[in-house]
Amino acid sequence: MNISKKIMGIGASPRANGNSDILLKQILKGAKAEKVDAAAFFLRDYDFKSCIGCERCRKEKICTGLKDGMTLLYPEIMESKAMVWVSPTHTYNVTAMMKAFIDRLYCFYTFEDTRPRNWASRLAGQDRKILIATVCEQVDAEDMGVTMEAMRLPAKAMGYEVVEEIVVFNKFDRGIIKEDGAVLERAFEAGKQLALLL
Ligand SMILES: Cc1cc2nc3c(=O)[nH]c(=O)nc-3n(C[C@H](O)[C@H](O)[C@H](O)COP(=O)(O)O)c2cc1C
Repeated sequence: MNISKKIMGIGASPRANGNSDILLKQILKGAKAEKVDAAAFFLRDYDFKSCIGCERCRKEKICTGLKDGMTLLYPEIMESKAMVWVSPTHTYNVTAMMKAFIDRLYCFYTFEDTRPRNWASRLAGQDRKILIATVCEQVDAEDMGVTMEAMRLPAKAMGYEVVEEIVVFNKFDRGIIKEDGAVLERAFEAGKQLALLL
């Protein structure tokens, strides 16, 4: 697998130019300041389904059961040493498109024929890094629900080291995050630090 020192940013909000988009762009801006190739991919621009459990990836080692927007994203995922996942909190969780994206990473697992099946990720052991982040409207962690766990657990299982987690509370209106200089600064710095780790 050819891995480059680049960062793939995944934006999982259905709302264009919203708070998650701005947060993601700011993180990537920080990474670019360290001269690292960093690009944003907004899942709403890709037409794809959640995993259908056809298990064709057991043989093919990539998803061939569905030919859709994810087919375009797989090469970038494999090539990028780091990822940034930003999902707004939707009903105590990541957005449906982030969950669908994560489920489609199932094709990177290798399973043994035991019950329960022993498994490993083909993206593991390659020093891959990830930064995860969410934006939510409320101010109590309880109202953010399981959003961060819903990204952290699968990212770790996939073999990524979670190097930073950013949680932004109290942002509802589209783009209001732009008015929060401290958050923007933190995001920029986190992007820089991620780049420096590659
Ligand atoms: C369908 C839906 C569900 C939401 N659920 C929550 C929630 O459970 N907790 C919360 O704090 N905010 C919730 N919000 C508010 C968003 O997280 C908040 O507006 C965020 O800033 C949206 O980010 P965006 O501009 O990137 O889309 C929800 C918004 C929508 C549209």
